[in-house]
Amino acid sequence: MKGIILAGGSGTRLYPTTLVTSKQLLPVFDKPMIYYPLSVLMLAGIRNILIITTEKDVPEFQKLLGDGKHFGINLSYKIQKQPNGLAEAFIIGEDFIGKDCVTLILGDNIFFGPRFSGTLKYRSKQVEKEGGACIFSYPVKQPERFGIVEFDKDGRVVSIEEKPEKPKSKYAVTGLYMYDNSVINYAKNLTPSARGELEITDINNIYLKNNLLRMERLGRGFSWLDTGTHESLLQAGQYVQTIEENQGIKMACLEEVAFRMKFLSKSKILSNIKNVKNNEYYDYVRSLVG
Ligand code: G1P
Repeated sequence: MKGIILAGGSGTRLYPTTLVTSKQLLPVFDKPMIYYPLSVLMLAGIRNILIITTEKDVPEFQKLLGDGKHFGINLSYKIQKQPNGLAEAFIIGEDFIGKDCVTLILGDNIFFGPRFSGTLKYRSKQVEKEGGACIFSYPVKQPERFGIVEFDKDGRVVSIEEKPEKPKSKYAVTGLYMYDNSVINYAKNLTPSARGELEITDINNIYLKNNLLRMERLGRGFSWLDTGTHESLLQAGQYVQTIEENQGIKMACLEEVAFRMKFLSKSKILSNIKNVKNNEYYDYVRSLVG
């Protein structure tokens, strides 16, 4: 399974904070936003990851994350020239994906909940073994803003509609998608929607029509957070702060995930961070692995 993080877009809704930097590099409490989706891919056991962003922002992401060795993963980078839609990720990433399956996650999506790591590993293995797709849904207050799933009385998916005027449920499709290798061809054959984008919802509907779409419903104990506006970005930061201070843990601490997933040894992690002193984040890492 390969992983792609889509971190493009010009972030106009967050101007002027995103005039010089990418939205996905803004802090969500104590770490850059992209740490959160990156931790999700790592928790799924994925070590080969492509970051797709704008030409202007690639050097910034490289400065932050490099080739990924510090986290026991391999990172590569590609450019999305225009915001042509989420499904373009599979066209841009074709060579990177090769003959493998792929998990796409949006660079501004934050997921946090019990036993999520197990769910990710299970679903990823399932797509690799049996083919098809798996997407994740979550109840939201403003369904008009998302791709929305309609279920029948037995809980089977009947339809998925992109930003419907009259939503058939309150279950949104989140920004986390697992596909077999056919996704590349499906993406190549899409036609742009009315908003001029290659829609991920059209890809999901192809898998649905072929009876190969699985749906993991994330329930009320789970958190899927939006970071698209100043208000939601601040709220996400406060949410992370609350959890971290209550429980004495860190969410999306990449060194911790690398350690727990056995991507890196204790001594490697300690030597990577040995020069950073007087810093709460790295002291946390030391206290875990030391
Ligand atoms: C995109 C998808 C939508 C999905 C959402 C999740 O919306 O098109 O189906 O529900 O991500 O964040 P967009 O960010 O393009 O508005």
